[in-house]
Amino acid sequence: MEHNGQDNQALWWQQGVIYQVYPRSFKDANADGTGDLQGILSKLDYLTWLGVDAIWLSPIYPSPMIDFGYDITNFTDIDPVFGDLATFDSLVEQAHQHGLKVIMDYVPNHTSDQHPWFLESRSSRTNPRRNWYVWADPRPDGSPPNNWLGSWGGSAWEWDPTTRQYYLHSYHKTMPDLNWRNPDVKEAMFDVVRFWLDRGVDGLRIDSAQRFMKDPQLRDNPPNPKPHMNAYKPLVEYDSQLHLYDKGHPDIHGVYRELRQLLDTYSKQSPRVTLGEMHIYDWPQWARYYGSQLDELHMPLNFGLVSAPWKAIAVRQLVDAIEAALPPKAWPNYVLGNHDEHRIATRIGSKQARVAMMLLLTLRGTPTLYYGDEIGMHDVEIPPERIEDPWEKNLPGLGFGRDPERSPMQWDESPNAGFCPSNVDPWLPIASDYKQTNVAVQRHDAHSMLSLAHALLQIRRSTPALTIGSYTPMEGVPDNCFVYVRQFERQCHLIALNLSGEEQQVHLPEMGSGNILVSTHLDRRGPAEMGTLNLRSDEGCIIEIPGTS
Ligand code: NOJ
Repeated sequence: MEHNGQDNQALWWQQGVIYQVYPRSFKDANADGTGDLQGILSKLDYLTWLGVDAIWLSPIYPSPMIDFGYDITNFTDIDPVFGDLATFDSLVEQAHQHGLKVIMDYVPNHTSDQHPWFLESRSSRTNPRRNWYVWADPRPDGSPPNNWLGSWGGSAWEWDPTTRQYYLHSYHKTMPDLNWRNPDVKEAMFDVVRFWLDRGVDGLRIDSAQRFMKDPQLRDNPPNPKPHMNAYKPLVEYDSQLHLYDKGHPDIHGVYRELRQLLDTYSKQSPRVTLGEMHIYDWPQWARYYGSQLDELHMPLNFGLVSAPWKAIAVRQLVDAIEAALPPKAWPNYVLGNHDEHRIATRIGSKQARVAMMLLLTLRGTPTLYYGDEIGMHDVEIPPERIEDPWEKNLPGLGFGRDPERSPMQWDESPNAGFCPSNVDPWLPIASDYKQTNVAVQRHDAHSMLSLAHALLQIRRSTPALTIGSYTPMEGVPDNCFVYVRQFERQCHLIALNLSGEEQQVHLPEMGSGNILVSTHLDRRGPAEMGTLNLRSDEGCIIEIPGTS
């Protein structure tokens, strides 16, 4: 099986690497314990050195911060904790000067219950904004209108005693769902898109991208016959239903086509991109969000690597399934970690995290790299009194908390890891290993995770085979290895990954001789025979195969 790459005209978001910044945790420039835009500005040189191409900023809008910015009170401003619009403008300008694109988080499904729209909506049944949210009468016994569940536990409906109706909230009860079937809502939310694109933003990461169109009849979800088979992760009560009616109504595709048309008008000046947060693990279904004419999302985000078992066969099957499901000319993408998932180094261990980094940066498709993964940050244990995440607060003790993967970035050996001054309390605890695991130390260590990430990003950037080349998995390799070839014109690179802790022998005599460009151990380069390629435990290699035609 071989999958063709792109031509030389690939766009920035196809060739580039996206780096996710969780702004609260990246760099605190004003000494209040929470990261901010000035902090990000101060690290643009680092990001350019690292070799990424775009930064995606998790939400920075005004917010009561129940869900740390995903609960928004104003879609067209910046929360003072992060800065202001003027600082945002200079961030965009300076990022562009550094050759970095800027992607904003865009949250269409819900607002905060403190958003003026919702305050009006809940003020009376006759308020002109009443229909901006999803309101419904109780059932005759007074219970919620249907059986829909919130993702973080309990009913998705909250009773409003003043106006004696329920409102829908797919997440926290302080985050009411907008009613996108109201054309005024759609127009207002499209205006939000225009606002940020006019400010020079290069793309949108669309939050909960499948959620905002639901069944207009509000039908009950049917029971789930296999509640223990969630392909993403077990979500307890939420898994008791098949989520047929509370998200992903087919009408959503029409909205995405309209949104794409809006973006396309801006892309004439410079290409813009939409990434949709899409927790769909049936890949043909997932691929529908590219649009039948590639006229919807540029890339529905692919979280397969977050949930796949870390076994070579499973990872290869995943990649092949993605490649097979992609519509012609659709561009793939891979995510290894984000602010909702346990860190990769915690999930698979720090040794295999290096192999995972090589995988992420050599697969065909756009990689999203979560801040701190480049230095091998791991989850931080959060003492009960410091828990911040609403999911953990709603369903305590079940492992849903997302604070552990949101701990402050570790910049150096100084107290608080250089994230904030030593006399300030960071909003989440700093990892205890920060004296070894930090940017400053690792930049000077030729074998560090950071040196590996940097080397991989440099090789990727200068190697069309790795960015836009085709992908061909190799047969006949050990079960613990995932081996594939990336090729563009006469340039051919073989990537051999050992996903186990035992040495493996790979025999691919038909590939002839090669030249090892980088090993995840960062201790070998040079000629290698593909007939007898030894991979040490937890080792991956990128091997140039010369002169292939
Ligand atoms: C998905 C986001 O990634 C997550 O952090 C957030 O809590 C929910 N959507 C609700 O906005």
